[in-house]
Amino acid sequence: MKIIDCKTNHLTNPLGFHLGQTVFSYKVADSRGKFQTDARIMVALDEKFSRVVYDSGYSTELDSLGHAAKINMVPRTRYFWTVTVRTDADEQETSAVNWFETAKMDEPWTASWITCDAQEPRHPIFKRDIPVGKELDQARLYICGLGLYEATINDERVGDEHLTPYCNDYNSWLQAQTFDVTDQLAKGGRLEVMLGNGWYLGRFGFTSRPDQAGYYAKTPKLIAEIHLDYADGTSEVIGTDERWQVGRSTICFSNIYDGEKDDTTLPAMADVPASLCSEAMAPLTDRLSPPVRIREVLPAVELLTTPAGEKVYDIGQNLAGIFRLKVDVPSGSKVHLQFGEVLQGGNFYRDNLRSAKAEYIWISDGRPTVLEPHFTFYGYRYVKVSGVDNLKPEDFTALALYSEIPPIGTLTTGSDQINQLIANIKWGQKGNFLDVPTDCPQRDERMGWTGDAQVFSATANYLTDCYAFYRKYLWDMQLEQAGHGGCVPDVVPAVGVDSCSSVWGDATCIIPWNMYLFTGDKTIIEEHFDAMQSWVDYITRIDGDDHAWRRHDHYGDWLALDHPDNRDDQTQGATDKGFIADVYYRESARIVAQAARLLGKSETAIQYDALADRILADLKAEFFSPTERCCVDTQTAHLLSLRYDLVNHREKAVKALQKTLQDVGNKLKTGFVGTPLLCNVLSDHGLDDLAYGLLLNEEYPGWLYSINLGATTIWERWNSVMPDGSISSTGMNSLNHYAYGSIGEWLFRRVAGIRPVESAPGFRQAVIAPMPDRRLGHIEAVYHSAAGTYQSSWRVLDDDSLEISLRVPFGCTAEVQLPYAPDSLFENSNNPLFADCANGICSVGPGDYRVRYEPTKPLRVILSTHSPIRLLMQHPGARKLLEGLGPSIPQQMWDMSLRELQAKYSQQDDEQQGRLDQMDQVLKALDN
Ligand code: BGC
Repeated sequence: MKIIDCKTNHLTNPLGFHLGQTVFSYKVADSRGKFQTDARIMVALDEKFSRVVYDSGYSTELDSLGHAAKINMVPRTRYFWTVTVRTDADEQETSAVNWFETAKMDEPWTASWITCDAQEPRHPIFKRDIPVGKELDQARLYICGLGLYEATINDERVGDEHLTPYCNDYNSWLQAQTFDVTDQLAKGGRLEVMLGNGWYLGRFGFTSRPDQAGYYAKTPKLIAEIHLDYADGTSEVIGTDERWQVGRSTICFSNIYDGEKDDTTLPAMADVPASLCSEAMAPLTDRLSPPVRIREVLPAVELLTTPAGEKVYDIGQNLAGIFRLKVDVPSGSKVHLQFGEVLQGGNFYRDNLRSAKAEYIWISDGRPTVLEPHFTFYGYRYVKVSGVDNLKPEDFTALALYSEIPPIGTLTTGSDQINQLIANIKWGQKGNFLDVPTDCPQRDERMGWTGDAQVFSATANYLTDCYAFYRKYLWDMQLEQAGHGGCVPDVVPAVGVDSCSSVWGDATCIIPWNMYLFTGDKTIIEEHFDAMQSWVDYITRIDGDDHAWRRHDHYGDWLALDHPDNRDDQTQGATDKGFIADVYYRESARIVAQAARLLGKSETAIQYDALADRILADLKAEFFSPTERCCVDTQTAHLLSLRYDLVNHREKAVKALQKTLQDVGNKLKTGFVGTPLLCNVLSDHGLDDLAYGLLLNEEYPGWLYSINLGATTIWERWNSVMPDGSISSTGMNSLNHYAYGSIGEWLFRRVAGIRPVESAPGFRQAVIAPMPDRRLGHIEAVYHSAAGTYQSSWRVLDDDSLEISLRVPFGCTAEVQLPYAPDSLFENSNNPLFADCANGICSVGPGDYRVRYEPTKPLRVILSTHSPIRLLMQHPGARKLLEGLGPSIPQQMWDMSLRELQAKYSQQDDEQQGRLDQMDQVLKALDN
């Protein structure tokens, strides 16, 4: 038996984080036992546990998903903790010793904010010698530098984080990081802190023009304290003050959108004393942002010479991050890099980045070097380099930067295209989880759009442990709401934006609820409840007595394809925006009621339930006929009706939904609102075939359309790139926008069939209901949930039988629903899967299960010349065969079979007959 994944506030051994409520979580693996009988958590000031500050005692109540412990924590102190678990098999195991260390908490800073001449564009380097004359026990650096900072000790980088102190509303709070610098300062040395512009000082957000400076401020600022604790028990603090010196680097330009310029030929400038400056405008808080690091290193796959004669590196993957480039050029040479997502006509292209220059300029002092930017990042796959002769493919390496979001979910299927789609969804998340959940990482936007974050949040929870990441985002959100009367600005941090919209603002209710559902840790609800409630109250105020919320300026089903005026650059969908607004107003009210109930606020729960009921009654009166026909007749409207239980007679809504699909050849028309619901709702109403059809459709619009055009991330628009490879528009067209990656939720939830259960959140209980389809062949899903590791796999075998295997982790139970299972299967008393079955549902505890059976619905379809042509066209092999026959068969005829076609239009002779028979053999042999 092992105890693994011990975390404090969902972080492993966090150093210097703001903790608030301390929550411990852990998992048990490799045990003989199936359930924890009791457990004990101890927290001490020393690794030997002689100075215990918290002891839960053995408790049967202790919850591995999150044990909230009240500890009187003091600043700058390391706490050690262990958990001991006992199981029903009489096992007992104690975890390894874990720790967390507090930072400054509310201890006043003795250091002062310092600054320098803000007119000088060359980026400042603040310096101070740190003498260490005695044996050092430990040293810590507490620091915040604005806009961005990078610290070194004796020319060696402090830590490995990038873009510190990260991105938040600097008017509301400032994050300070803590670094363990014991080794680096063992003999003392020189601490240097270089400041760049970043979000704080550089142009950023909608209000910024290319020639403008920062939205927040104009002056760089630094505060730092070095705490030296000596072996003899004494200690010393060295803080920033006017005795620090300021030198100048050769970086003379940097910001988030435009990139960086480093002119190494600039003459050295003499150091001058730093000056004291006024307090920064917001409280300094211990960090909440999980670290952004270089998490993947990708060598360039190719160095191209384009038709325009330019040298362009292809990384083979669209990503967000920086780079390393080896250069050795004569003094004075200008090396210029530009970053783009797609080639056009084989040439470098970047017009879809709008005003973002996304470049790196370096003027050489003649010394060979490896270039690497400090204070910017790019969203890119292609890099144009000029100013270097003899570039070699191996000279360039891409460095993917993203926040700490440990991967917890993997899916592998029998389809290369779907596997690529899964990779694209993951890269979409990595590219947009750079401290803030952004819409896109490349153009002059890169902001925390709430709607995008909301629709992706379930998928994010399947793919990654993103609790700490979203906790920080929700912290930003509640601060913005506090300053906007409960309103959730469209982007968080708001950077001057104060508009809001339904679906987008509802992120403040939906994201924390999803996190609770996936992790079972209600701390996030406790922390965010007031903000959730204030959003619903804000809408109620706007709504007034005449439903003004419906008429508010909403984004609606953003980028849907069903607007009557369907131009390539169209952003609006056809679904009535007032209808969508009402649906989400009610959903947020319902979530607030549920959250209130969870927190024991029963009166509030009753109040918001009543509000939700009233909104539902009003929206039904306005948007439904007396016979419950939804008068908003779009795919998205019917999806909303079904997903949010707006109707009593579901069959009618299902039929209406089917019709809106059939009318357009079973293609999707949905945008940001409908798409995340689409396949889930279809599957939840028995329409898996249709859902699979949408997933596997290779034509525009659909996910595989982009895969077939070589996409390596999720695009903003269904047709971001046209079939000939040309970009469809430039105004708003990113190739790394994760919103439509929300299909990932359905792949886990319905295709692999691993589902959370609201009454036992955090996967303490799960539903496992896989849904196989012959076109996918097989799937293997592994999900390291908050409660432990689930697995769900299915495979359609050659003899048309189905093999299913599952794993339920320690301490968990699952209800298993086997697809197309014959009644006789449940009588098999030798298989532990069927030990406890009722009405086709098998209740199982921890363990591995496997079953193979003949499904009641044949999963393999044997293709033949008698099959409808439409079916043949869905199969890549059959499609190729038909295409090889000659002129393409018009779509109006696709409901006929080849035999019918032949009978109607050609001569009936033996030769033709023989040819069809031969074709039957080939079609039968195709692996479908
Ligand atoms: C962003 C979107 C966002 C939208 C809201 C766009 O500019 O890139 O992803 O949700 O605006 O309308």
